[in-house]
Amino acid sequence: MKKLCLLGLAIGLASHSVWADTTPAPIENKDAFVSNLMKQMTLEEKIGQLRLISIGPEMPRELIRKEIAAGNIGGTFNSITRPENRPMQDAAMRSRLKIPMFFAYDVIHGHRTIFPIPLALASSWDMDAIGRSGRIAAKEAAADSLDITFAPMVDISRDPRWGRTSEGFGEDTYLVSRIAKVMVKAYQGETPSAADSIMASVKHFALYGAVEGGRDYNTVDMSPVKMYQDYLPPYRAAIDAGAGGVMVALNSINGIPATANMWLMQDLLRKEWGFKGLAVSDHGAIFELIKHGVARDGREAAKLAIKAGIDMSMNDTLYGKELPGLLKSGEIQQSDIDNAVREVLGAKYDMGLFKDPYLRIGKVEDDPADTYAENRLHRAEARDVARRSMVLLKNQNETLPLKKTEKIVLVGPLAKAPIDMMGSWAAAGKPEQSVTLLDGMTRALGDQTKLTYVRGANITEDKKVLDYLNFLNFDAPEVVNDPRSAQVMIDEAVKAAQQADVVVAAVGESRGMSHESSSRTDLNIPANQRDLIKALKATGKPLVLVLMNGRPLTILEEKDQADAILETWFTGTEGGNAIADVLFGDYNPSGKLPISIPRSVGQIPTYYNHLSIGRPFTPGKPGNYTSQYFDDTTGPLYPFGYGLSYTSFSLSDMALSSTTLNKSGKIDASVTVKNTGKRDGETVVQLYIQDVVGSMIRPLKELKNFQKVMLKAGEQKVIHFTIDEDDLKFYNAQLKYAAEPGKFNVQIGLDSEDVTQQSFELL
Ligand code: NOJ
Repeated sequence: MKKLCLLGLAIGLASHSVWADTTPAPIENKDAFVSNLMKQMTLEEKIGQLRLISIGPEMPRELIRKEIAAGNIGGTFNSITRPENRPMQDAAMRSRLKIPMFFAYDVIHGHRTIFPIPLALASSWDMDAIGRSGRIAAKEAAADSLDITFAPMVDISRDPRWGRTSEGFGEDTYLVSRIAKVMVKAYQGETPSAADSIMASVKHFALYGAVEGGRDYNTVDMSPVKMYQDYLPPYRAAIDAGAGGVMVALNSINGIPATANMWLMQDLLRKEWGFKGLAVSDHGAIFELIKHGVARDGREAAKLAIKAGIDMSMNDTLYGKELPGLLKSGEIQQSDIDNAVREVLGAKYDMGLFKDPYLRIGKVEDDPADTYAENRLHRAEARDVARRSMVLLKNQNETLPLKKTEKIVLVGPLAKAPIDMMGSWAAAGKPEQSVTLLDGMTRALGDQTKLTYVRGANITEDKKVLDYLNFLNFDAPEVVNDPRSAQVMIDEAVKAAQQADVVVAAVGESRGMSHESSSRTDLNIPANQRDLIKALKATGKPLVLVLMNGRPLTILEEKDQADAILETWFTGTEGGNAIADVLFGDYNPSGKLPISIPRSVGQIPTYYNHLSIGRPFTPGKPGNYTSQYFDDTTGPLYPFGYGLSYTSFSLSDMALSSTTLNKSGKIDASVTVKNTGKRDGETVVQLYIQDVVGSMIRPLKELKNFQKVMLKAGEQKVIHFTIDEDDLKFYNAQLKYAAEPGKFNVQIGLDSEDVTQQSFELL
């Protein structure tokens, strides 16, 4: 009794020590504190900590609180306000040991203020802007009582058929790794125990982006070298940056589901990488071990998962049901359970919850009167980040920027689609608070507005696709079609276009088309929208396409039809304002593609840094007996790293400080970048390296560094990059990470294709 009271005091009243038996365990000493607490837990209480449940509108709250008070739940996700979470924490404080709950959520690209989708953030190549978006997301989420996010998602995605391409940062290992680090630091701030920080759990460990055929949840089969070289570094970067959690992927890897994968979870994550944090399963993944066909039943599934080191099970009941029996029969050991409990308690400790279970829930009197209040949003920051995230793909005859005095006709289903602006995984964002393109352009034009809007087309006329997109939203379908016929809408748009100086068409995907499980076989803009574009082109009016989409689309025809193309992805709460800023030239676009845009689906994968081949295709030469598709041009429509500006830039005088490099030495690679146009603007100078001859085939080139540079019209700067041995290392056939002596080509460019080259020799 005495023991319990003291423990209660220590935890509930934020005292600074916990007493078990007679040994004091200061709260400052994490290991001792957690061990001490564990000594007092029953088996049921321990297993309770391993349970992470989703709170849905249909969940009986009373029952949940009862379960929490009984010590049967360790954390929840999807309940996202202080008034919702406080009673649950109160229930935890009524439990025997008063172990605090944690509250999780998918805070992926903003919380209440929605920032551009991750693929768009990556398009900014602006680490500062990306970091700001993550920090604000963390602050807003923490202010809403959340302790941990299931982010960042750093799965390398090289197959845009995969709907979750939108949620990642693109195809390149180096770029994604840099962003992984920035995002973890942004979410966790100085420390994940700060009141305005949330813990990051990097996902989906591992290789989820490489699902076969881009079909979600599909298998992954990959050589160890490719894993180590291309796919694993971003997870590692997030962990090295201090991510407190890891979410385990739903896919299998070389025949073993990640959730039961001893090599992945134990040998690699825990032993090789030294990860000491919380490993959470993905939704229902333990149960799915039965479906994968590696577990006979729930009992075996629970055994495989706990043995592999899945600390918390997300939304299934198998641990609760099966672990006691497995322990009794000796199929698992107490240490299997204890290891998992230790990580859960350790993560709660790191979130600062033992010192103060109400750290992020706060006091009732401080609750926001209106959770959705405008003044809780960070609009200016969202607008700034959004305008940095767009990529200008084409701008013939300086069609852009638009003149505010022109007569503009705005068409397209996405010009007035508040929910789609937010993109998928829009956390607690409210569509009512997002600025559509129509809103943004109208505001930008103010009194001088000569803007007309006509819809022109629905997102799709394909009933099957519509049903899919609206499947989960029984109360309010997300994609609502205008009942008029496609032709009537096109005719109306054409009539309006004929009166215009310029036509702006907002076309692409609805957000649900680039989401979990939303894999596509066809990456075209939906057929009815393409008909609209064709008809608009036929008017002869200058045509600007504003693309909204969560993955690269195949826009081969549209590239010819449009005079200008702005890839905006999904831009978030302030999207309409940000796009208007770019369209009217109040901001000069500076984004670069973080993923190649293929010419056709058949060309996928199109990533830039593929391995050298014995019979490469040479542009301009006959294709026979070379590696190509004979029925189309070889190479992407737009390469990785590509993006235009309203000004122009040139690179000159590339130089290396030496033609040889010692193992411990450094080479300076420099280039002069000049703004040769009439406007101030930013560009991204990119450094690629090719290892010309190695013990293994090496990629054609690999991004190794970049700098985003702002230059006034006419201004020039010399940019320097330092190259050392680390930049040349790779995993060889024995998975040894080392640089091999020999020739290296250094390429500097403003995209991955248009580069200048110099070489040096590693001695
Ligand atoms: C399933 C998704 O794969 C994962 O990314 C997400 O974090 C969880 N659901 C929770 O929403």
